[in-house]
Amino acid sequence: MNITLASGSIFLTKADHIILFYSSLKSLQYSVKNSPLESFIDHMQHNGHLKDSTFSQTKQTITLQSKLVDVYLINPGTKDTHNTFRHAIATAARSIQNKQTPSVAVGFDQTATQHMLLQCIEGIVLGQYSFQTFKSKPKSTKTITNWQFHTTTFKNIDQLITQAKANAEGQNMARQLANTPANKLTPQDVVTTVKQSFATLPVDINVITQKDALKQKMGAFLAVGQGSSCDSFILELTLNKSKKSPIILVGKGVTFDTGGISLKPGRSMSDMKGDMSGAAAVIGAMHALAQQQCNHHVKAIIPLVENMPAGNAYKPGDVITAMNGKTIEVINTDAEGRLILADALCLAATYNPKLIVDIATLTGACSVALGDVASAVLGNSQQPIDVLMSTHEKTGEYFWQLPLYDQYKDYLKSTTADLLNCAENRLAGTATAAIFLQEFVDKKTWIHLDIASTMQHSKTAGFNIKGMSGTATRSLIQLVLNS
Ligand code: BES
Ligand code: ZN
Ligand code: ZN
Repeated sequence: MNITLASGSIFLTKADHIILFYSSLKSLQYSVKNSPLESFIDHMQHNGHLKDSTFSQTKQTITLQSKLVDVYLINPGTKDTHNTFRHAIATAARSIQNKQTPSVAVGFDQTATQHMLLQCIEGIVLGQYSFQTFKSKPKSTKTITNWQFHTTTFKNIDQLITQAKANAEGQNMARQLANTPANKLTPQDVVTTVKQSFATLPVDINVITQKDALKQKMGAFLAVGQGSSCDSFILELTLNKSKKSPIILVGKGVTFDTGGISLKPGRSMSDMKGDMSGAAAVIGAMHALAQQQCNHHVKAIIPLVENMPAGNAYKPGDVITAMNGKTIEVINTDAEGRLILADALCLAATYNPKLIVDIATLTGACSVALGDVASAVLGNSQQPIDVLMSTHEKTGEYFWQLPLYDQYKDYLKSTTADLLNCAENRLAGTATAAIFLQEFVDKKTWIHLDIASTMQHSKTAGFNIKGMSGTATRSLIQLVLNS
């Protein structure tokens, strides 16, 4: 994809399509004065067809330099403030995507800010994503290769372009991993895919096998995968290894979650191919950070398992021991994510981390609390939570903080072991999961992101594409850059 800056009137462009963003009818009229669009806009405004504040997209064909050019007039609206340009340009890009001559000039009726350009580039890459891997006759989805931004504000936006592209491609990578069905993406396949995608990047890769995990006494991690015919792995990725304390990203990688012996109901079980969305976001974020030459010391720890029922599967009532020696009574084998994270967090705590961030599709309760609009954040330190929440302005991704009250610890009291893997009631499901995780972070600075609520989209709208969302990839990137 080729992105360039252009100055001068957009109506002198050689591109085949024009996207013209307007913020108000008044400034739109001003910016098309003496252009081939002037009378059309006057006419549209007269008939009340152009709206001032809500999202609208109108297409008009005009003649420029004796060639027909489609002009998309878009008011991005004000509904989802920090995503307006991502949504708007994604919608337009999809209308143009499969046309014969895909070169597009983009203009604004106001001074373009860096943030508007970042949103546009991310929106272009995210909006044209489509999951065609397993279609025998894939829809031909040509992506638009030439984009020209008409703005006089900037001279050089090379770094901005690199960043925006890397962010969106990182999220697309997360979408692709999470969309891929479990028979085509086992824990071993994730390891292989990551090795391939990171081959040319300066990222160290270490693979912890079941044998290694046994030596390290990771009994919680090993229990979850024991009923599967697939081997379990923990992937470790390191960027800018140094003596400085790392930021550690820990992602839940359950390539399929049947619930195990506490089997899930059949309805929507297929969604559980996306139960490695935490791992996918971490992988996508590491890829993007490496590509934009981030100089922070960052480590990713990604436990990968498949949760299956079988004769040798772990069972309700079993007692297992995590790496830090704590014993866990398994009440429900469907609360498996926190078990693999427990050992991954123990491992993270041994690296003298500046901050541990874990991310997981951990609880259905998260959707009950927040719907599909926001993800949950909890943690033992307010400062990194505040940093995460502040990334919203840049990423447009929503997080809402839930409390980690000590009183919830009572819900996990076990008579047999040190603690239960989940509460016997369904109260405060997202918070009790975090309370459980807290037992394994060795009092290191830690935050937990529950993305079960935003894991997927039920329909395509704006830059959101139906299917697994790649949620929080860009928030992780921004959190690292701001830490
Ligand atoms: N992977 C699920 C959580 C989930 C559900 C993610 C729906 C996305 C959509 C997780 O492993 C799970 O099953 N959690 C249980 C915990 C319960 C047994 C305490 C849940 O939320 O029901
Ligand atoms: Zn589960
Ligand atoms: Zn799960």
